[in-house]
Amino acid sequence: MSIAGRLGLRYPLIQAPMAGVSDVRLAAAICQLGGLGSLPCALLNSEQITTQVRDLRAASDAPFNLNFFCHSAPASDDTAQQRWREALAPLYEQWGIEDTDTPAGPARRSFGAEQAELVAHLKPAVVSFHFGLPASELLEAVKATGALVLSSANTVDEARWLEAHGADGIIAQGIEAGGHRAMFLRDTLNDQPPTMELLAGILDAVNLPVIAAGGIGDRESVSAALDAGADAVQLGTALMLCPECNTSELHRQALREAPGRGTVVTNLYSGRPARSINTALTDHLGPMNALAPPFPTAAQALAPLRAAAEAAGQFDFTPVWSGTRPETCRAVPVAELVDDLFG
Ligand SMILES: Cc1cc2nc3c(=O)[nH]c(=O)nc-3n(C[C@H](O)[C@H](O)[C@H](O)COP(=O)(O)O)c2cc1C
Repeated sequence: MSIAGRLGLRYPLIQAPMAGVSDVRLAAAICQLGGLGSLPCALLNSEQITTQVRDLRAASDAPFNLNFFCHSAPASDDTAQQRWREALAPLYEQWGIEDTDTPAGPARRSFGAEQAELVAHLKPAVVSFHFGLPASELLEAVKATGALVLSSANTVDEARWLEAHGADGIIAQGIEAGGHRAMFLRDTLNDQPPTMELLAGILDAVNLPVIAAGGIGDRESVSAALDAGADAVQLGTALMLCPECNTSELHRQALREAPGRGTVVTNLYSGRPARSINTALTDHLGPMNALAPPFPTAAQALAPLRAAAEAAGQFDFTPVWSGTRPETCRAVPVAELVDDLFG
């Protein structure tokens, strides 16, 4: 049976968890409409996750998804940080920045024993992971709760790996997708196909439900993915101008300008490849630059630049994630958008 059928959803729609951009409001709106709402947990501590789950359950008794990152934290490397600061030095100078120790905002957490305990306690219907899967004992603990486990693949090989390691469904994240690439087996971008090609390849290779993600944001792209055999679609960018999404004013402005600026996969903001709208930073240093230190430590040295530019109303150093189709974003309530796409 399809995931929508198993969960009793009205629509084959999964709201993309968008760390730092979506929270309980968007998840609740999607749950109320009959899609699968998702809470991105990568930037939250256990108390914050518990509060959001409580608020979500107060708004809707529909099933929901908790989403976690499962990267391994890099060893601290002062030399790499120093080289990164040197690469950024002309920008510090341009912005008159002398003190580069601005705090970088909430840490990106990786799924560990604390999160596994929380999942056992909160019992979400679905748990999705980005960057592979957690260690087998942690995954077993999640599966023992009865949660359906999803994870994203950027290649057919990654989908096969996820199936072999216990995922219950694969999110085929095409190269068009906004935000971080899920990539976890290899670090090259060259072999990552567009959504429809990836979907077809994964459907051929695995025996699991496959969810299409990346560049889906209008009726045509939803139908094309479902007609091609997708079990559901996962939408991110298309939801970002909706009032229920927590997208900042600056990010909304960037999305409105995005069709003219274009998007690019860049490692500059976090150390891992992610699709963002072109900015002064990606023009200046990238989009891909070997000097960016490993995920998530690239963000630290950028923090003072980001703070200075944002104070001046500019997103030159802000990670303004977007998929390749920002023109599908509309500033209308989620109910209207979902009705247009699925109704
Ligand atoms: C702003 C933003 C933040 C994202 N954050 C996450 C995240 O926290 N966890 C995750 O699994 N995927 C995240 N993604 C990726 C989405 O799950 C999904 O792959 C992507 O949005 C699909 O492409 P689209 O943006 O073209 O719809 C994010 C995407 C965006 C646009």
